[in-house]
Amino acid sequence: MQLDRNEYPRRRQQLMANMTANSVAIIPSAPVTVRNRDVEHPYRQDSDFYYLTGFAEPHALLLLIPGRAEGECIVFCQDKNKEQEIWTGRRLGPEAAPAVLACDEAFSINDVDELVPTLLAGRERIYTHMGLHADFDRQVMHWLNAVKAQVRLGVQAPYELHALDHLLHEQRLLKSPAEIAVMQRAADISAEAHTRAMQTVKPGMHEYQLEAEMTRIFMSAGSRWPAYPSIVGAGENACILHYTENNAVIQDGDLILIDAGCELDYYAADITRTFPANGRFSEPQKALYQLVLDAQYAALEQVKPGNRWQQPHDAAVRVLVRGLLQLGLLQGEEDALIEQQAYRQFYMHKTGHWLGMDVHDVGDYRQDGEWRRFEAGMVLTVEPGLYVAPDDDSVDPQWRGIGIRIEDDVVVTEQGHHVLTHGVVKTIAEIEALMR
Ligand code: GLY
Ligand code: MN
Ligand code: MN
Repeated sequence: MQLDRNEYPRRRQQLMANMTANSVAIIPSAPVTVRNRDVEHPYRQDSDFYYLTGFAEPHALLLLIPGRAEGECIVFCQDKNKEQEIWTGRRLGPEAAPAVLACDEAFSINDVDELVPTLLAGRERIYTHMGLHADFDRQVMHWLNAVKAQVRLGVQAPYELHALDHLLHEQRLLKSPAEIAVMQRAADISAEAHTRAMQTVKPGMHEYQLEAEMTRIFMSAGSRWPAYPSIVGAGENACILHYTENNAVIQDGDLILIDAGCELDYYAADITRTFPANGRFSEPQKALYQLVLDAQYAALEQVKPGNRWQQPHDAAVRVLVRGLLQLGLLQGEEDALIEQQAYRQFYMHKTGHWLGMDVHDVGDYRQDGEWRRFEAGMVLTVEPGLYVAPDDDSVDPQWRGIGIRIEDDVVVTEQGHHVLTHGVVKTIAEIEALMR
């Protein structure tokens, strides 16, 4: 599943339309990182760079110069090189780049230091990332100083550095129908993988063997890799929010929390399901699970245009606190417990985040000092949970070591919302039926 290639120039035009006159945007590719001696991490392009180019190679740079007569979109990339390509793979090369990437000009990445300063000359403002990669920050300063060195020759140097993030990330926050179609497919594949995990689990398996099963589904369906390291936590491992060791043996009686989603054409899915290893919830597991599910339904109800970011979280917290009081895990008065955030003993994260090319996607959560309002086209997760530490002697032993999260991906629509990840079940009855 690939986006229409015309989407990339459209995005660049939209960004340039929002830049000030006489400005330039500089967007770098992701750096290559070393895993260990002679071995690099799998290369994954920077989301901003890919969003604007659809170009996956490292050692590249994009310049957008609105109004430049010789061309507004300039790409720097690696030269073709027969010998090196035998070792490290095919390269597009600057000769082929304009046709493939629909840019106006392309040059060798080896020429950036010579050419970028000439492209900055006469511009007033530079939009770029600041503070993301120290090497890139230094490079921008180096180019800027190269222009400044020429001011006595009559060259005007840019005098304003502006964070590109705001403009670009507001644009990325609102997904087009084409983007939502890819995200729906990523969600469907991930839902299938969760279904498969519930169907194949057996006590005695290692957690990573469930992970393998899910990765197999992702890749068979056309995803290259997970959108983030899969979390497969059985028993009390479910209480470690970013557990990725995934190397314990699953025991009869464990609940298993799986937080995993695939990446498809640079878009993430992010699903969590929690289910019993032996196919039957115990009574305490049932009670806490139903509470988290009720909290999730209450949160989902708040996702609609005009509502504010915090409303789903507040709704989830209200349901959780009420339930924890009823079950005896908390004592006190509901409003006071919420006010004091006493629930953080069992629920210490937020109810969601923006979702898109990055699993924790870009976009502001507040505007003008307030939580921002939902608009159609935004995509977010809704993921309440409860985690009772195994050594929490403030609660009855029956609750200890239970960790539960239920996470779905949701797109805001004109009418309310649509749950992209509806393909995998989540009620107690449905899960038990599926696992029977
Ligand atoms: N998988 C990361 C998260 O749920 O935020
Ligand atoms: Mn999430
Ligand atoms: Mn998740």
